[in-house]
Amino acid sequence: MIAHRMSKIDSSGIRKVFDLAQKMQNPVNLSIGQPDFDVPEEIKMVAMKAIEDGANKYTVTQGIAELRNGLLKRLQEQRGVNAEDIIITSGVSGALTLVFMVLINPDDEVLIPDPAFVSYKHLVNFCGGKSIFIDTYPDFQLTAARIEPHITKKTKALIINSPANPTGIMCKARDIKEIAEIAKKHNLVVISDEIYHDYDYHHVFESIGKYYEKTLTLDGFSKSFAMTGWRMGYAAGPASMISEMIKLQQYTFVCAPSPAQYAVAKSLDTDLSKYIANYKKKRDLMYNGLKDTFQIVKPGGAFYFFPEVPWGTDEEFVATAIKNNLLIIPGSVFSERHTHFRVSYAASEETIHRGMDILNSISRQ
Ligand SMILES: Cc1ncc(COP(=O)(O)O)c(C=O)c1O
Repeated sequence: MIAHRMSKIDSSGIRKVFDLAQKMQNPVNLSIGQPDFDVPEEIKMVAMKAIEDGANKYTVTQGIAELRNGLLKRLQEQRGVNAEDIIITSGVSGALTLVFMVLINPDDEVLIPDPAFVSYKHLVNFCGGKSIFIDTYPDFQLTAARIEPHITKKTKALIINSPANPTGIMCKARDIKEIAEIAKKHNLVVISDEIYHDYDYHHVFESIGKYYEKTLTLDGFSKSFAMTGWRMGYAAGPASMISEMIKLQQYTFVCAPSPAQYAVAKSLDTDLSKYIANYKKKRDLMYNGLKDTFQIVKPGGAFYFFPEVPWGTDEEFVATAIKNNLLIIPGSVFSERHTHFRVSYAASEETIHRGMDILNSISRQ
């Protein structure tokens, strides 16, 4: 009954964790990939007004002009990215789905950092492409030197995610420029997932789209505005690619949610500094609490750490954490290796303290 392409994707890793979590009573949950604050009040008010004012119908497929123009202007002013065109999508997930469907031919190779956000490889494989992993252990830095040996005649695209899920690591400015140069040399499409760009604790974020025109810059509001359920994202880049994505969105997602588009369009200048400062504090709290017990790289962004497991495999260590009522994610959900785990600090300080106590207590077998 089921199409062959479904056998190319697999949700067993994450599912196993959530099956175990179901059985836990009131767990200490440090597995979360979304902010622990709610959508800022002023944005909620604009969204409610948009609904009352009738912003409840389909919008044009590519998204409302006010939002598209606002984003293109900010991309230019704040990140130096001169994108030719933009499409508003149902989250960055919607953008990723469209990008791969539009770009990937059977057997095309896509370079993906390892570790990386779990959707990339599944979507590439689903589209018939081949995921080629670039090992970034132990410091998780993506560099031109690490990428170049993997480039073949079949390489179509390279994915960059800075700040990164699951490591929080950010690409260095020098590396971004060098990666842009090799992408140009080999005529690759760069897919730059910048969904965590506001969580940049040392103001060092650089967009590769500033240096290389064949970049699709993907971003969204799930993390910045804490609206994971509103499904708001976008892709900006070469008009030839965006127009194909618009064509496909017409027959699939149709448009991103209308009230959310109007609300975000009016909220682009929301000041997030107090949220970011709070997460920087939590990053430091967790780093100081874990650094003496775990092999850990201090990240500059996002809201995750990716420590090495102190004993056993990632699954064994996570199973012990779960037995002690702590929910974390085994690294192999994001990686070909079974040596690390992801812990999120998108949680209250109290939860972070409780989680760290459990982690430290199980660090010795
Ligand atoms: C790196 C990265 N990209 C994309 C997404 C998808 O975000 P959304 O579809 O909510 O915009 C996530 C969500 O966790 C993520 O971590």
